[in-house]
Amino acid sequence: MSLLLNRKTFGNIANKGNALSREDAYALFHEWVINPKLQLHMKQVAYLMKCWAIEKEGLDVTAAWHWEMAGLLHDADWDQWPELHCKKILEELEQRNVDPEILHAIASHGPVHFGVEPETPMDKMLYAFDELSGLIHAYSLMRPGGYEGMDVKGVKKRLKEKSFAASVSRDDIMDACKRAGIVPDDLIAFIIPRQATVS
Ligand SMILES: [Fe+2]
Repeated sequence: MSLLLNRKTFGNIANKGNALSREDAYALFHEWVINPKLQLHMKQVAYLMKCWAIEKEGLDVTAAWHWEMAGLLHDADWDQWPELHCKKILEELEQRNVDPEILHAIASHGPVHFGVEPETPMDKMLYAFDELSGLIHAYSLMRPGGYEGMDVKGVKKRLKEKSFAASVSRDDIMDACKRAGIVPDDLIAFIIPRQATVS
């Protein structure tokens, strides 16, 4: 099954600055995503994107919502239409006149799968957070205290253990960190305390 999008541009530049309202984004999220585990993953990535936009990129609330929205909806079609993953949500958001930058971030969150390269900081961070967030969450589930007392060293150990959360692509994590210009340790340290607050 190929998920290649076979195109490089998304949306219309005339829609620059347009995002869904928080209400509309969450309505779509709840309509399309049924699996609570996937919902949590998407909420975690959304929050990490928001935190990064504000804390590291110095963006204002409006711009940070664009980052958060990309995170919140990046896997929206995975639950019910896995064979249309990425294509369906992009078409939906294009119809709703969403900013091309948000669309491009969603389109490039898995370059190997969708054939679209992450270019902007928003693109790169969505790609970087996606798999690593999942691995850290899987690690929290096997720890008696969850996120309590979790450290970078423990996460790195799991990262090296290929049988742990085997579906998480270590290659994607390394590739994403490289593209974003971040060492994995720093990204892990950023994720742990923030992700711990998402439920
Ligand atoms: Fe994801």
